[in-house]
Amino acid sequence: MDGRDMAGAAGGASPHGAEVADPAAHPASAGRGPAAMEPSHVAIIGSGLIGRSWAMVFAAGGFKVKLYDIAQQQLKTALENIRKQMKEMEKSGVLKGALSAEQQLALISVCTDLKTAVEGATFIQECTPENLELKKKIFDQLDLIVGDNVILSSSTSCLLPSKLFTGLKHVKQCIVSHPVNPPYFVPLVEIVPHPETDPSTTERTYALMKKIGQSPVKLNREIEGFVLNRLQYAVISEAWRLVGEGVISPTDLDLVMSDGLGMRYAFIGPLETMHLNAEGVSNYCERYAEGMRLVLNTFGPVPEFSGETVQKVNQALSEKIPVVPKALDARRKWRDECLTGLAKLKTQMKSD
Ligand code: NAI
Repeated sequence: MDGRDMAGAAGGASPHGAEVADPAAHPASAGRGPAAMEPSHVAIIGSGLIGRSWAMVFAAGGFKVKLYDIAQQQLKTALENIRKQMKEMEKSGVLKGALSAEQQLALISVCTDLKTAVEGATFIQECTPENLELKKKIFDQLDLIVGDNVILSSSTSCLLPSKLFTGLKHVKQCIVSHPVNPPYFVPLVEIVPHPETDPSTTERTYALMKKIGQSPVKLNREIEGFVLNRLQYAVISEAWRLVGEGVISPTDLDLVMSDGLGMRYAFIGPLETMHLNAEGVSNYCERYAEGMRLVLNTFGPVPEFSGETVQKVNQALSEKIPVVPKALDARRKWRDECLTGLAKLKTQMKSD
């Protein structure tokens, strides 16, 4: 790590007397000239669902955040939404971080000029729509205006780093930090390097994610779907097949996860499950390999995700949660409350 690594930063005093994790002691790393002397901060590019959530996560960690968007109205809505969420969470005692909602809000500023947004930033998290050409254009722009120490990170869910970053002058500083929605409540972040990413970029990003209370995992190389979506798609694929073939109803299928596997997966992964469900992994394989292979060999081809099964699943889910904003939002709010409660429980139950 170099001396400018904000993830290793000591706290500095904020205007509110609280500790701010992003001190002026760090030399500006993007841009040149007088503006480059501004204190360092995190820049978020795109203020939609994920950009807002990242802004909240960084502010909770005590970082100054500049939120950039091409749409002024989006920024206005984002700030209103962040304020509302922070105030509500503060009221119910689940606001993250050591600072009050007002102190965290004071750390977030917005702007519609890209150069101003990234000037002095030590970490840039891109959160624009999932469109390769658009994202490439943004990274091309950033490549022209940033210095040699800032990290250029993308929130992309499925675009490979080699598609996004190849050919950039600052490719060594580029990385994917893929969050899980909503990042404020679900801490996992997949850190996926480009083949030319400098190992220090990976390490600094990992350390930064830890510092702001996220749960980073490092992929050693890029792969379609990264890891989270590969696991998720494996589950969705078999769920789809079982419902499509009439083995189980959509409602019961979801219960198998929420009241079955999910209960344990919130605390231990599939590999530790193997370890604990026998006398260690080797013993599990001795006991169950044949049975697992027998079942796995009955899995079919990749589903089309079209036709009758779509209607069947959609009908069942729409009866439970009508596809109208009010009902969907209410259910999302409930989901986030559950995730907050689970996060609290996980903190209480923590073991290393
Ligand atoms: P969104 O559509 O809610 O927000 C995108 C924002 O980018 C909008 O505010 C839009 O005005 C802005 N924007 C568009 N063009 C821009 C430009 N040229 N410069 C700056 N801002 C621009 O999208 P969302 O859901 O926040 O997704 C952002 C990224 O995060 C995507 O890459 C997505 O794949 C990824 N992601 C999304 C998850 C999700 O569940 N929504 C989960 C994990 C990652």
